[in-house]
Amino acid sequence: MSIYILGIESSCDDTSAAVLEDTRVLSNVIANQDIHRTYGGVVPELASRAHQQNIIPVVEVAIRKAKITKKQLDAVAFTRGPGLLGSLLVGTSFSKAFAMGLNIPIIEVDHLKAHILSHFIKDKPDKKTPALPFLCLTVSGGHTQIVRVDSPSEMEVIGTTIDDAAGEAFDKAAKIMGLPYPGGPEIDKLAKSGIPDAFRFPESSMPGLNYSFSGLKTSFLYFLRDRLKEDEHFIEKHKADLAASIQKTIVNILMNKVKRAVNETGIREVAVAGGVSANSALRTAMQNAADNLGWNIYIPEFQYTTDNAAMIAIAGYFKYLSGDFASQNIAPYSKSRF
Ligand code: KG4
Ligand code: ZN
Repeated sequence: MSIYILGIESSCDDTSAAVLEDTRVLSNVIANQDIHRTYGGVVPELASRAHQQNIIPVVEVAIRKAKITKKQLDAVAFTRGPGLLGSLLVGTSFSKAFAMGLNIPIIEVDHLKAHILSHFIKDKPDKKTPALPFLCLTVSGGHTQIVRVDSPSEMEVIGTTIDDAAGEAFDKAAKIMGLPYPGGPEIDKLAKSGIPDAFRFPESSMPGLNYSFSGLKTSFLYFLRDRLKEDEHFIEKHKADLAASIQKTIVNILMNKVKRAVNETGIREVAVAGGVSANSALRTAMQNAADNLGWNIYIPEFQYTTDNAAMIAIAGYFKYLSGDFASQNIAPYSKSRF
């Protein structure tokens, strides 16, 4: 018998609901909040309010698109954290009430683990899923981690950022260049017509498998400040080259530590997850590593790179199989517990 899980994601600025039949996605609906563009970043108060407005319509559409009835659902999986507390409260409270009404269990999901487990979504019969154990580079707006995955419930963070996340590095560099939020996709687009070696920026050298991106942001800022003194149109004239060069630097920093992690662990199954895994230069670098270093790589489809509820539902599915349910008095957490 099939298991139907409703997934709910509301950790940041996207409200998403998805229905999975076992590991297959029947629907994955995402309502983006454009309002934050006006402010150049996510405004928590506005995000919570928009989640409150969006959640019921998004869930209704997800169930309708899945062509099932509410009564067929076996459980509701929701993001418990990390994320913005006000945003998480909307998804958590909705999930509790909805599940209580249907008399079905709730399943708490860690957002970062869900990004990793999105690799087990099987939306095509021939889709390759990672063999265990595998390494996953999780790169999002809030986190940058190298994780060793031994099973859906056994994961160990073996490298992490000590300051900014890779997505933040993209977003901050874009902001310095006067590009709209979120800056990652803007840099990616501009970089396509730029020369990656046009400008050189220092690559941080952290010990072990850890990352640091705050120095890069500062050197980018000082570099542009100095150039703008000589030519006030410097950014405008060199937009594409600047984007390509900063993108190359971020991707090099990311890939160097992943290569080191592969050498240290001997694990050649390598996945990438999170919003920044949409980046075309990172995807190419992963593909090159697969071709030249013999890695088996796993890159999510675009729709599963940024925040989505299908990944919450797949993480919930694994917990459902092991009977790992949450109680109705559970509360969200804002900081990573993983
Ligand atoms: O995983 P995600 O949707 O949300 C968080 O959990 O943070 O990641 C969002 C991040 C943002 O920093 C955004 O700029 C970045 O992912 N991003 C990209 C690209 N698409 C999204 N960064 C670089 N290139 C992209 N194509
Ligand atoms: Zn995310």
